[in-house]
This record gives sequence, structure tokens and C-alpha cells, in this order.
Amino acid sequence: MGFNVAIDGPAGSGKSTVAKRAAAQLHFYYVDTGAMYRAIGLYMSRIGVDLQNEEQVSAHIGETRIDLAYDASGQRVLLNGEDVTPVLRSEEVGAMASAVSRYPAVRNHLTELQRTLAREHDVIMDGRDIGTCILPHAGLKIFLTADPAVRARRRVGELREKGKKADFDQILAEIIARDDQDEHRKVAPLRQAEDAVRLDTSDMSIDAVTGEIVRLAREKMEK
Ligand code: DC
Repeated sequence: MGFNVAIDGPAGSGKSTVAKRAAAQLHFYYVDTGAMYRAIGLYMSRIGVDLQNEEQVSAHIGETRIDLAYDASGQRVLLNGEDVTPVLRSEEVGAMASAVSRYPAVRNHLTELQRTLAREHDVIMDGRDIGTCILPHAGLKIFLTADPAVRARRRVGELREKGKKADFDQILAEIIARDDQDEHRKVAPLRQAEDAVRLDTSDMSIDAVTGEIVRLAREKMEK
């Protein structure tokens, strides 16, 4: 049984950045569950399934096999053996993931894989339902939040850094829409676990958030 750190929070709260860094400092595996949902959304859209149609998406879920691999650049996501990592981060694929992640058949398909990884390794796993559903007994649970405007600003910065065009108002609207969908769906909605430590990262640097998570994890592991 590995030591498990669960990190949940809304889109753009900084989960993946700090989880990745904290995992490197703790020598844990970093498991980005959002990337798994993104790969499924991508698959469904590629084969032309209507993502709003639960029955259709559920009928095809058995055709997807998701594997994680690790190399120097971090976690790679394999969709039926194809490395799809480079195409997963776009806002478009994020919206596809948010749509398909509402369906129980999709969530069940990924739950076992996520739990197996956590059983076999020390992991920092980030997502929406890790502390509440996937790893209810995680050694440490963190709930990361930040003001929607701060999250939109971060996302705009990221996109511009990559040389892409980004419109603040549009990104903010997308973030608010995705929060709404993730928080109000019937299965495994985004919410803070009762025993999670809440960190509002609006005014915190990446290093400060990472440092706090590493400190809390070490403290819990000593107990
Ligand atoms: O963290 P992210 O932006 O990569 O996640 C993409 C979408 O996948 C998110 O809008 C909701 C869904 N998701 C989920 O339902 N459960 C998770 N554990 C992780 C992501």
C-alpha cells in the first residue's frame, strides 16, 4: 500500500503544476486523472460520438484502454497504445473531458485504474473526486481553490507563453462554465472532502503551495 496524497480542485487552481512539483520532491508518482478523462473525451470525439449522448458514449467506453507511462518529461497518457499527451491540454479537449466525465460508465471505467496505481505506489493524484470517491482513505487530502479571475489570468498567461492567442473574457467564461458542470453533475461532483486541507492559491506562489503540500505530506507520513 502506497502513501497517497489526493489533490482536488477546479480547473486552473494550479493542481497539476504543484502536484507535479510536490511529487518530484517527495519521489512519488504523479497521477493526473484529468488527463485520463481528456483522453476518453478525445477518443469519443474522434469516432464521432455525440458527447451529450450518455448512451452512445457509454456504449463505446469499452473500446478505450488508458495506460500511463513515465519518462523524463513526466506522465505520458497512452490511448489504445497511442501517446496522446501532446494534444490533451487544449481548452477544447478539456471541455470534451468535462462532458464525458458526467457519465457513470466513464467514471467506473477509470476508477479501477486509479485505485490500482494508488495501491501499488506512493502517489500524488489530482482530479475532482480523488479525496471524496477514489481514495477516501488517502493519507493527505488537499483542496485547492483560487478566484475564477485569477485562474483565468493564469490560463491566459500559459497560452500566451506557448505563443497562442488567448482572450481573457472568453477563458473566464469557459472556466466558469466548466466549474458549474463539474460541481453540479449527479455523479462524483467536485466538492471538498470533510477532512481535506483547503488552500486558496489566489495570492500564493507555486513554490509556496508546493512547499506547504510537501510539508503536510511529510508530517502525515511520520505519524
Ligand atoms: O483537471 P482537468 O482540467 O484536466 O480535467 C478535465 C475534466 O475532467 C474536468 O473538467 C472534469 C473531469 N475530471 C473529473 O471529472 N474527475 C477527475 N478526477 C478529473 C477530471
